[in-house]
Amino acid sequence: MAKTVKLEPIAQESTIATNGNLLSVLLNKDLDVLKECGGRGMCATCHIYVTDGMEALTPINRREQRTLEVITSCKTNSRLACQARVLGEGIVVELPPGMYVNSLQDIEALIGRRAEQSLLHPITGAVLVEAGKLITRSMMRQLEESGDNKFKVNEFFNQSSEA
Ligand code: FES
Repeated sequence: MAKTVKLEPIAQESTIATNGNLLSVLLNKDLDVLKECGGRGMCATCHIYVTDGMEALTPINRREQRTLEVITSCKTNSRLACQARVLGEGIVVELPPGMYVNSLQDIEALIGRRAEQSLLHPITGAVLVEAGKLITRSMMRQLEESGDNKFKVNEFFNQSSEA
């Protein structure tokens, strides 16, 4: 039977078959989800907050738990949309603000412009550039040099699938 899921803050609703995952709800609404890891529960790009109805979702599995631990904006109601499957009614999902980027080159392409929304790291969800900030070459250099923000997306996935 179909279940209804509400999406905030865009005030939208979507129906999904029981046991379908929240990622399909987001994709049904044409939301631009990067799915950096291909829906394997290993990145931050489908991170959402569940503001109501957590008990109507499947429980968090080990891989999801491990990934959530690295996401800097993780809260107690965080889930990965690709891993959370809908079992019941009453689920309300809040989308975190900001846009995930694939690589530093994505940011480089925006040099000279202001970030329309915060630009986020695809694994950790860390804010790389705050909304409204002018993107400059020196900012790029800082991002390249700072160990935390290095994009090692492929290495990360290889490691995680071996672990
Ligand atoms: S798409 Fe990567 S964790 Fe969901």
